[in-house]
Amino acid sequence: MRARTIGLMASFIVAASLTGLLAGPAEVALPQNYQATFNNYLDVDRYDRKRVRKMYVNRAAHDAAKAGGDLPDGTVLIMEDHDAKTDADGNLVVGPDGRLIALEPVKHVFVMEKNSAWSTDNGNWDYAWYQGDGSPRPDAKYAGCFSCHANRAERDFTFTYWKFVSDQQK
Ligand code: HEC
Repeated sequence: MRARTIGLMASFIVAASLTGLLAGPAEVALPQNYQATFNNYLDVDRYDRKRVRKMYVNRAAHDAAKAGGDLPDGTVLIMEDHDAKTDADGNLVVGPDGRLIALEPVKHVFVMEKNSAWSTDNGNWDYAWYQGDGSPRPDAKYAGCFSCHANRAERDFTFTYWKFVSDQQK
């Protein structure tokens, strides 16, 4: 390939990345070892889906987050989906704490990351979907992540974390 073509392709890739066309795992990596290093700020019991969703945030962003403000550049939020325990009839089982019981292994890992280099149309956020084993979800589509999370633009595009920070009055 001629050098000029390679140069053009490289600038296209940079432009695509800046405008958010490179959604998904190409931009948003799955953080290694997040279960040990991130803060598990919330668990959501989804009776309708028979799932437990564990929410995590990276500690540096959590330390810097302030109630009512935009979340810090570099915030990484993870939603980890587990099947919830059911009895032999398929009814959900509740633990002694009144909460649903998360089964292993992890089913899905949804990641959203904020990077000031990415499109401001989406509040600098981009999204990726990984399988429980850490590999990218092969048939993932990302338009839905952007459009549904845009419903929470006033909470910096998050459903749970911005509210969590505000409720803590950090
Ligand atoms: C139809 C709406 C909808 C779509 C589409 C959607 N989400 Fe969400 N997302 C939610 C809701 C609602 C929550 C809060 C958890 C709950 O109630 O289940 C959430 C929570 C999250 C969280 C935890 C942080 C937060 O905002 O609370 C992440 C990370 C996340 N979603 C990533 C993704 C990714 C990646 C995709 C696309 C593959 C996606 N979401 C698509 C509605 C959506």
